[in-house]
Parts: sequence; C-alpha cells; structure tokens
Amino acid sequence: MSDNRSQANLASPDASGVGADPPIVELRNVGKHYGRITALKHVSFAIRKGEVVALVGDNGAGKSTLVNIIAGALAPSVGELLIEGEPMRFRSANEARQMGIETVYQDLALANDVPAWANLFLGREIKRRGPLGALGWLDKKAMIGAADEALGRTKIRIKSIEAKCGALSGGQRQAVAVARAINWGSRMLLMDEPTAALGVEQQHQVGVLIEAVREEGTPVLLVSHNLPQVMAVSDRILVLFHGHLVKELVTARTTTDEVIKWITGAGLVRQAAS
Ligand SMILES: Nc1ncnc2c1ncn2[C@@H]1O[C@H](COP(=O)(O)OP(=O)(O)OP(=O)(O)O)[C@@H](O)[C@H]1O
Ligand SMILES: [Mg+2]
Repeated sequence: MSDNRSQANLASPDASGVGADPPIVELRNVGKHYGRITALKHVSFAIRKGEVVALVGDNGAGKSTLVNIIAGALAPSVGELLIEGEPMRFRSANEARQMGIETVYQDLALANDVPAWANLFLGREIKRRGPLGALGWLDKKAMIGAADEALGRTKIRIKSIEAKCGALSGGQRQAVAVARAINWGSRMLLMDEPTAALGVEQQHQVGVLIEAVREEGTPVLLVSHNLPQVMAVSDRILVLFHGHLVKELVTARTTTDEVIKWITGAGLVRQAAS
C-alpha cells in the first residue's frame, strides 16, 4: 500500500520539483534480447532536467545494456526511447552524441599520450579558416580556451591542461572525461561505473563532478555499485533485478538497507508475501 503511494508520488511532476516539460529521456516498455537471453524486460522510466538518477542492480542485472540503449550503442529489441518527448531510434553512439547525450564509461576512453585539452576534441577538432577560406587548420587556441573553460566547470583542478592524460591521477582523468562530456553533452550525461577503479578521495571527486553537472541542469544517469555514493549524490534510485525495473526509490526517503533488499530480490519476496 505505502509502496503504491510512493510510486504515485514519483510519477507526478511535483515529486521531482519540475513542471510539465517533457522528460529529457524516457523509456517506454523497453526490452532487449541477446539471442535467447533477455537482458531487459518492460523497462519504463523518465529522467528530467537537473535530476541525478542512480541505476543499481547486481552483476548482469542489465544496467550497462540500459545505458547503452540510451547512449545509442545498442538498439532496443522492443519498446520506445523518447528524447524530450520525441521518439528516437539511434543508429549509433555518434547519433546520440550529436543529440547531446554523452557517456562516461569505466575505462574513460582517453588518449594517454596527448594533452588533457586535446582529449576534449578527439575526432571533433575545431578547425579555422585558412587564407583561402578553406576549413583546414586546427584552431589550437580556441580548443585550449574551450577545454580550460569546461575543466573549470568540473571544479577539479588539473595542474596544466597541457599535461598528457597518462600523467594525471585517476580522479583528474575522470575530470577530463567528464569535461569532455559536459563540453559536448548539453542534454544528458550517462556514467557507467565511473568510480569502480578509483580511490576514496577520487570517488569523492566524482561526487563533486556530478554536483557540478547537476548545477548546470544536465540530468545524470549514474550506474554504480557504490551505495554510499549513490545515497550521497542521487535524487532517485532505479533498481534493476534480472532485467526488470523492480523499484524506483526517492533517495531522501529510503535507506541503504532498503536499496540492498531490492537489489538482492528480497524486496520482491517480501512484496509477494504481503
Ligand atoms: N553482447 C552480449 N551478448 C549476450 N549476452 C549479453 C551481452 N551483453 C550482455 N549480455 C547479458 O545481458 C545481461 C545484462 O548484462 P549487462 O552488461 O547489462 O549487466 P550489468 O547490470 O551492467 O552488470 P555489471 O554490474 O556486471 O556490469 C547479462 O546476463 C549478460 O550476460
Ligand atoms: Mg555493467
């Protein structure tokens, strides 16, 4: 009974503190099969401007599959993905990126042997007009300026944006990956286990980064096994269990124990018994 009530609250615009704008991202009845394996089934949820939503679940629950569907890297087998109310069928991660949906993966996908600033522009270099008006030369000054500004927005300090990425700490590398994402990703930031390889202090820095992104109004979908961090940074928590979205929780109104119950499936057993 109380569960139903909290679900109803979640569905109303007031619960997230925002008005009636369409959600930035919405999934309707999304399913994904890999051959005979069902990785996701009937998954529906919406994420609105400025929200930090955590996606949790045991290994193999379907979290990365879900992120990859929003990121355009995987097509859903069934169901709909809507971006600001418009149904979308991304054919590639590039198409999603062009729509402002950026993803930070665990491996960060940075080039270690080029400067930090250049990592923000890999494959998307700013060109400037040559003497005959041809778009030929890389505009290094413009890129360094934009990189400096984006890194400033992450609030993590890097000794020099000329430093090669390979010489940075894990947390600083994370800042470069997030700066790259916020430099391009105006709509939505997806993070798939960004803290898995980081130390305690660096994990804290990722929390700072997420807060900085939220302040800009960009919603974040964060996949994490780190429950203290999930409790600290998220507004809502989505729990996947064997490919099903079994629970949506408002972080301020739940506890780590409750989240664990849903992750392990114990919450489902309790629900069935009541
Ligand atoms: N390319 C694939 N081919 C076949 N099965 C896959 C493929 N990718 C994922 N799966 C399966 O789909 C299910 C969901 O996997 P997914 O990677 O989304 O889980 P996850 O929640 O991200 O897990 P983890 O916490 O370990 O990263 C798993 O059963 C997995 O084995
Ligand atoms: Mg995963």
